[in-house]
Amino acid sequence: MEDYGIHSNNNSLLTNMAFLSLGITIFSIFCITRLPIFASESEAPNKHTLETYIVHVEAPDAHLMSHSPSEDLESWYRSFLPATTASTSEDETRLVYSYRHVFKGFAARLSPNHVKDMEKKNGFISARPQKPMSLHTTHSPNFLGLSQNTGFWKHSNYGKGVIIGVLDTGVLPEHPSFSDKGMPPPPARWKGKCQFNHTTCNNKIIGARYFSAEYLSPLDDDGHGTHTASTAAGNFVEGANVFGSANGTAAGVAPLAHLAIYKVCCGEGDILAGMDAAVEDRVDVLSLSLGLETINFRQDAIAIGAFSAMQKGIFVSCSGGNGGPFSGLVRNGAPWILTVGASTIDRKLGARAVLGNKQQFDGQSAFQPRNFPKKLFPLVYAGMLNASDEYAPYCFNESLSQSNIRGKIVVCELGGPRIQKGAVVKSGGGVGMILLNYEEYANTTSADVHVIPTTHLSYADGLKIKAYINSTRNPSATISFQGTLIGDDHHAPVVAAFSSRGPNYPSPGILKPDILGPGVNILAAWPTSVENKHNTKSTFNIISGTSMSAPHLSGVAALLKSAHPHWSPAAIKSAIMTTADVVNLAHNPIEDEKSLPANVFATGAGQVNPSRANDPGLIYDINPKDYVSYLCGLNYTNRQVGIFLQRRVNCSVESSIAEAQLNYPSFSINFYGKSTSQVYTRTVTNVGEADSSYRVVISPPRGVDVQVEPTTLKFSKINQKLKYEVKFKLLASAPNTTFVQGFLKWTSQNHSVRSPIAVSLKELH
Ligand SMILES: *[C@@H]1O[C@H](CO)[C@@H](O)[C@H](O)[C@H]1NC(C)=O
Ligand SMILES: *[C@@H]1O[C@H](CO)[C@@H](O)[C@H](O)[C@H]1NC(C)=O
Ligand SMILES: *[C@@H]1O[C@H](CO)[C@@H](O)[C@H](O)[C@H]1NC(C)=O
Ligand SMILES: *[C@@H]1O[C@H](CO)[C@@H](O)[C@H](O)[C@H]1NC(C)=O
Ligand SMILES: *[C@@H]1O[C@H](CO)[C@@H](O)[C@H](O)[C@H]1NC(C)=O
Ligand SMILES: *[C@@H]1O[C@H](CO)[C@@H](O)[C@H](O)[C@H]1NC(C)=O
Ligand SMILES: *[C@@H]1O[C@H](CO)[C@@H](O)[C@H](O)[C@H]1NC(C)=O
Ligand SMILES: *[C@@H]1O[C@H](CO)[C@@H](O)[C@H](O)[C@H]1NC(C)=O
Ligand SMILES: *[C@@H]1O[C@H](CO)[C@@H](O)[C@H](O)[C@H]1NC(C)=O
Ligand SMILES: *[C@@H]1O[C@H](CO)[C@@H](O)[C@H](O)[C@H]1NC(C)=O
Repeated sequence: MEDYGIHSNNNSLLTNMAFLSLGITIFSIFCITRLPIFASESEAPNKHTLETYIVHVEAPDAHLMSHSPSEDLESWYRSFLPATTASTSEDETRLVYSYRHVFKGFAARLSPNHVKDMEKKNGFISARPQKPMSLHTTHSPNFLGLSQNTGFWKHSNYGKGVIIGVLDTGVLPEHPSFSDKGMPPPPARWKGKCQFNHTTCNNKIIGARYFSAEYLSPLDDDGHGTHTASTAAGNFVEGANVFGSANGTAAGVAPLAHLAIYKVCCGEGDILAGMDAAVEDRVDVLSLSLGLETINFRQDAIAIGAFSAMQKGIFVSCSGGNGGPFSGLVRNGAPWILTVGASTIDRKLGARAVLGNKQQFDGQSAFQPRNFPKKLFPLVYAGMLNASDEYAPYCFNESLSQSNIRGKIVVCELGGPRIQKGAVVKSGGGVGMILLNYEEYANTTSADVHVIPTTHLSYADGLKIKAYINSTRNPSATISFQGTLIGDDHHAPVVAAFSSRGPNYPSPGILKPDILGPGVNILAAWPTSVENKHNTKSTFNIISGTSMSAPHLSGVAALLKSAHPHWSPAAIKSAIMTTADVVNLAHNPIEDEKSLPANVFATGAGQVNPSRANDPGLIYDINPKDYVSYLCGLNYTNRQVGIFLQRRVNCSVESSIAEAQLNYPSFSINFYGKSTSQVYTRTVTNVGEADSSYRVVISPPRGVDVQVEPTTLKFSKINQKLKYEVKFKLLASAPNTTFVQGFLKWTSQNHSVRSPIAVSLKELH
């Protein structure tokens, strides 16, 4: 199953594989045709058909470099291509991108035969067809504890001076969120380009480029990119709302940070070109709400691009994907990336279903009609309207075309684009819709901009509604709209059903996702009016996905970068992870979509707490060269490791380490097929008070003995580094489960530095 694309969860499509796994996770325009239900069987590639390949080559020998480095690189790359023919047709082989920073290599239109010829040339490393990509806030900064004129927001200067690069679907620069009121000019080092052809950049959007022959400008023709950019760094906009809902002052997490926009499309070649440019432009933070289907990092363009960004000190924040709640589908899980899962906020846009028998069920909708009648309407279950059409329960177009739904409220099942279902009900004369979750999505509901009065209910409530319909001859219901309810939900933050879970298959010794951030029903800028034919207009939209949570963390990283300009990307990540919250507003453990305590493969370190991240006490830093030993330890070949490093590497002379030995702020230990006793070391750097003493607190996973040596760490200087050793031993009392979890934390008078521990006991398949 292909799973790439924008990690937002708005207009999903029904997939074949299951309504379950990807039914509401989705994705963009780009992959529509790739979903099995619509696509025909893919044909075997013709030997002569051209495709875009990502080609890795060795760096050219220094003595060959005579002219400007970029010209030389390009002619080196061209030497791998087939001699050009006279043809000027669309299918002409051609160099699409020459990469300079992310790795040595290029993207080119080639046939399998061309690739065969290329393989014989000296300096060739690898070539493979590119994978297409999939695209995986008024209130959310407040929910994260950021408030205007006080605390960390003020202290970090709202991210002033920091540049966030956003790789996405472009941006609408005229949106009020991108006003440069109060913004300083870009830093002197900035030399990025501005490719709008109808306007110029300003002090908010300081650069904008596009990477695809399909585009003529970096303008956003989707909405996703405008939404994510404004979530990371949108300026303050008063009175932002969607049809009156969620009204308030909208702001990004780093409202005074600059934005550099890289509009990318369609596949790895474009993504790499965007990352190459962002590295050259020297952004400080790179935000990617998209992903690629990958089974290892060496074939993952985002992992490779992020590596060179990290080497240059750029912090990379990525969405973890919308493959939840199923295990092991987390994306963008390289240890040099911050991998972000999605959680709810404490704002609900209430829509209550009231049944004829007086039962009531609370759901959500962003469309809150003021004058929907309180009277009861006839209620019908779509699944009972068209026995000959298996898609009828999902209220698909055509399925209900001959059914009598005029004047009724129609109950539809989740699966496929949600708003579209309302359009189908509306076109048949229905007055309202009750949308029911399927089992796996449990209690995660969406507040969508529906075109008809609607409420989206949990799976458990759906069963009760269907039972009621069965129990009476004339079922009836109405929907009562309750407006924006803030602070109402003491369970927040809750892990979203769609948020991708670990284990992290490409590197099971690194726990992923790293962190949770707001990603459910997020209000942020939108390039077009979200038209619902009710004469209401909005330039904001509410959507969900890990696409929405990643830019929150990009904003947090920008605030930290502004407050601590010398912290490395690994230090910023450590600060974010070791200070995360593990309890909800009611001080209970963070829950998942089933309202059960969420496990560590869903939460990672927990929910981001920006103010605490500003003062972590200790950090787990990682020097870029430590990743060489890590990559060698993954048993990648010298050439494969060399792709990341852009130089020759010989793993038999580099030290090679186990994944779990990387100085990571969390632990993922695997006992299956491995030694039942494992020892790792960690090094912590003191960034708190010079004189401070930390004691270890251990909560061992069930059936695992965890010993830390030494048990106290006494620091006398700032930036002093101390080592400790941690020994994990599997006990006979270990339960017969796939994994167990615990944590260890270092506490001092003023700090608590917590690392989650996941211990896998069986290999997941
Ligand atoms: C400018 O961009 C628009 C699309 O945003 C495109 O239609 C137009 O052709 C472009 N003009 C030029 C001169 O490239
Ligand atoms: C939103 O709030 C502002 C300020 O409180 C108010 O002036 C405005 O009328 C509100 N807009 C809507 C649509 O409720
Ligand atoms: C049932 O579904 C089929 C196929 O989508 C459609 O042609 C037919 O009109 C539908 N019947 C009713 C009663 O809606
Ligand atoms: C249903 O499909 C028809 C034909 O494709 C289209 O004209 C119509 O707009 C669709 N209706 C809805 C509600 O999407
Ligand atoms: C309602 O009745 C239908 C048809 O008799 C049955 O298939 C379905 O399981 C019932 N649903 C509930 C929730 O009882
Ligand atoms: C959440 O989901 C579970 C499982 O579907 C259900 O048992 C529980 O009642 C739900 N809780 C709430 C608060 O809806
Ligand atoms: C790499 O190979 C060594 C030796 O065969 C093995 O012990 C180790 O588990 C492998 N590591 C990974 C990550 O596969
Ligand atoms: C790597 O280093 C080892 C040990 O020094 C040496 O035997 C081997 O030839 C080297 N490999 C390459 C490809 O240089
Ligand atoms: C462990 O659990 C699995 C099912 O999860 C079961 O098949 C197996 O028999 C159990 N093993 C023991 C020793 O209880
Ligand atoms: C803890 O913080 C307080 C207030 O910031 C400070 O006065 C105190 O010295 C700190 N404690 C230690 C052990 O540094």
